[in-house]
Amino acid sequence: MKVAGKNYRTVWMEDNTVCLIEQNLLPFEFKIFRAKNYRETCTVISTMIVRGAGAIGATAGYAMAQAFVEDGDDIAFVKKAREEIENTRPTAQNLFYAVERVYSAGQISVQQAVEEAQKIADEDAAACKKIGELGNELIRDGANIETHCNAGWLAFVDYGSALSPVYAAHRSGKQVFVYADETRPRGQGARLTAWELQNENVEHLIIPDNAGAHLMSQGKVDMIIVGSDRIAANGDVANKIGTLEKAIAAKYYGIPFYVAAPVSTIDFDCTSGKDIPIEQRHEDEVLYQTGPDAKGKLQQIRIGSPGSNALNPAFDVTPAELVTAIITDKGIFNPRELITIKP
Ligand code: MRU
Repeated sequence: MKVAGKNYRTVWMEDNTVCLIEQNLLPFEFKIFRAKNYRETCTVISTMIVRGAGAIGATAGYAMAQAFVEDGDDIAFVKKAREEIENTRPTAQNLFYAVERVYSAGQISVQQAVEEAQKIADEDAAACKKIGELGNELIRDGANIETHCNAGWLAFVDYGSALSPVYAAHRSGKQVFVYADETRPRGQGARLTAWELQNENVEHLIIPDNAGAHLMSQGKVDMIIVGSDRIAANGDVANKIGTLEKAIAAKYYGIPFYVAAPVSTIDFDCTSGKDIPIEQRHEDEVLYQTGPDAKGKLQQIRIGSPGSNALNPAFDVTPAELVTAIITDKGIFNPRELITIKP
């Protein structure tokens, strides 16, 4: 996707350095971060310089390739690197999918590992493009669409999942309007989704997380499209915390609730959503907010009552029965039929 007229991917590799758009600084500053070895790339994932299922997956694949380049002859080193990469974040299935593929390729040669990591990134971009084409067919001209968190191109290598159909619809000349849930505590909707939509000239408003049901009750939302971090074989969907509430409200008001995700996000070994590990993040993400001061310098301020602690589960699981359909790169499926595409 384009930033100031220049084409970017969210993550790419140059020599053995992983280059990424620094997402913690957006939308206030656009900067490329360079991770020179697999350990730095692990930090990039755990500190959310990169985030979003597909982008995390591609980055983890590159990190695994970096470890092979660093010392592919030392089996203990490579195994330890794999463990460290897999411990960066627990929920996004794409991370484990990518690490497994690159690790297996690395058993043949270092070159194979690097090529596999690149292939995963390219496949992610192509899958998201396809999701856009297929999902566009579900969007009518004039649609008002609500989305949660950021499942745009920043959350993948390119195009995005939930936002890819929106971009495709907009480019095909349809009138589309997006309500972007702000997505507390880290504000991926208010910061990243809104920034992406601005860049693409898609009309939108940022809404408080708790405004969704109200807008649905007023008939202002025609459809909801969200992404996913991991989908279980039975069609249960893990996504950013707050997604479940939207799905419940959508069911009550008879509004279609779509999940868009590449097949690489489906964990066919996970029988139900109950088995999906839910990341618990640090309480400071809830208790503090970050934003620019008058001089544009990012500052942290405390918003929680001093002395109070916070609970910060990063994801929730929406049961398959609340999901109208899952838009994948291999077609649009009833969540209960996902198992039919198990490779
Ligand atoms: O914690 P994050 O920002 O990595 O959360 C992941 C997400 O971006 C969302 O849950 C998203 O809606 C689905 S992943 C494309």
